[in-house]
Amino acid sequence: MCGIIGYLGHQLAKDILLDGLKKLEYRGYDSAGLCILNDGQFFIDKKVGPVVQLEQSVANQEIISTTGIAHTRWATHGAPSENNAHPHFDCHGQIAVVHNGIIENYQALKEVLISEGHQFQSETDSEVLAHLIEKFYTDNLETAVTKALALVEGSYGLVVLSIKENKLVAVRQSSPLIIGVGVGETFVASDIPAILNYTKQVIYLNDNDLAIIDSQGYHLQNLAGQVVDRQVEEVKLNVEQIEKKGFKHFMLKEIFEQPQTISNVLAGRVKDGQIKLSIDLDLSRLKRIIIAACGTSWHSALIGKYLLENIARIPVEVDYASEFRYRQPLVSDTDLFVAISQSGETADTLAALREAKRQGAQTIAIVNVVGSTVTREVDSGIYLHAGPEIGVASTKAFTAQVTALILLALYLRQLVGQPLDDGLLADLNQLPEIVATTLSLNNQLADLAAQFYHTDHFLYLGRGLNFPVALEGALKLKEISYIHAEGYPAAEIKHGPIALVDENMPVVFLATKNDLSDKIISNIQEIKARGGRIIAVVDQDYDHIAELADHLIRVPVVNVLLSPIVNAIPLQLLAYHIADYKGLDVDKPRNLAKSVTVE
Ligand code: M6R
Repeated sequence: MCGIIGYLGHQLAKDILLDGLKKLEYRGYDSAGLCILNDGQFFIDKKVGPVVQLEQSVANQEIISTTGIAHTRWATHGAPSENNAHPHFDCHGQIAVVHNGIIENYQALKEVLISEGHQFQSETDSEVLAHLIEKFYTDNLETAVTKALALVEGSYGLVVLSIKENKLVAVRQSSPLIIGVGVGETFVASDIPAILNYTKQVIYLNDNDLAIIDSQGYHLQNLAGQVVDRQVEEVKLNVEQIEKKGFKHFMLKEIFEQPQTISNVLAGRVKDGQIKLSIDLDLSRLKRIIIAACGTSWHSALIGKYLLENIARIPVEVDYASEFRYRQPLVSDTDLFVAISQSGETADTLAALREAKRQGAQTIAIVNVVGSTVTREVDSGIYLHAGPEIGVASTKAFTAQVTALILLALYLRQLVGQPLDDGLLADLNQLPEIVATTLSLNNQLADLAAQFYHTDHFLYLGRGLNFPVALEGALKLKEISYIHAEGYPAAEIKHGPIALVDENMPVVFLATKNDLSDKIISNIQEIKARGGRIIAVVDQDYDHIAELADHLIRVPVVNVLLSPIVNAIPLQLLAYHIADYKGLDVDKPRNLAKSVTVE
């Protein structure tokens, strides 16, 4: 959610900032801007739309400076416009600020600042930071930033540049920032891909850390002015992992990576009929599991409930992370709280985790991004090792999360001395190959998309474990194609939503063979009788509904507990191809950002 990059070193800042912004675009792409300290003056440019607009605008500008900051925005306060684009400035254009997060008391601060004579150019909350820093600035940027932030409530990943000092000041509070350490150059960014072309040595800033970056390197202190010591860590990612490698979109590349990413989740964790997870917790008094997550990760959580209750026989509650702490949940030290997050930075998920910890629960996180905030606050974790997910629509993270939840369920069963199902373990080991086979449906799904991309509505129906897959299929479609789509438990449809069904309504059924197959067939009949067009995802050897469905998508036969993973693949492909047929920007759908670091 908003991308930030700052640079101070010996290379051309313009090139590094633009390159970094392009890598960060998945975090927000409403507008972009930069400010470069050029020969004692600020060179400023801002453009509405993707970074390429900004790039074209500055292409012929000779800016030889080696210090600057830049930002790509996901609008919270104020519509996408050049005025609202970052950087923001003080009244005299001497202090430039790029900000990620939300200043909750900005209205009150703005009123005071206006009464003191400050003039605002934007509708954003972020601009108050520039004016507050101006208010306290005499001759030292970090002192002014510290004094300003003492008045601020909210979240910020913040980088400030003053025309009077060749230095950057960066501060983190609930919004990620990293320092990239190079030779004779220092970077600051909201996310690692921005700097990966230049250095793999990074420092993850903690909340309240303030970094002063100048020609000598960097100095770290906290907002109380005390020196802090943070480790420089080597990032394991490489540049290749954040490139499209011949695929038209990152989303398609990530869909096709799933055999590998599932294999990464399993690697070393299923051995000799046993599950090996490094969970360093005392679970002997465990009575209940609470899972909290958002979006696609919440769909994984719902599947996790089925898996954990079925395999480990432990009661599970699933919460939207954004609702959890506001419903005054009752949590105790016999609860295990599981946070699921691809990014590990989702503000609501973090807040739920903190609430559960505060009430004494032990905590585990299922996270993809190594070193993210969730991983640093949780008691124990299961990394997905799925590699960077750049497409805003989550795909490989979803199937990796479900795989991790199966491992967790099996691990908890094993912990209480119950035998594991050898058949399930064998299928689990085969899962990467099964998913690879499922991907060969790509052309069929592209053909189907060609027939349906003009449709205005879609329904997705499933039962049991596959009900959350229906939700996920609908989410994928709506977020990248802007087609209205809803997911329901198949039997629930007759309690209202069936009123929507007519001959124009495509209905995707997850009709994998299981204990509820007869009931699913009845549900299909109900839709068929109302003229709905049935697209059924079925097992390869399942012919019962061939005559009922208008379109059959045959997936490999797999243990029913693994069916959500296999069934998700055609739904991802269908959504992808529909959005592509519509000519939409699949990787950067409107109004969205990859990680939602504000509440
Ligand atoms: O990084 P997280 O898994 O915490 O993100 C949660 C959601 O924001 C995310 O899954 C979102 O719903 C995706 N756009 C879904 O494709």
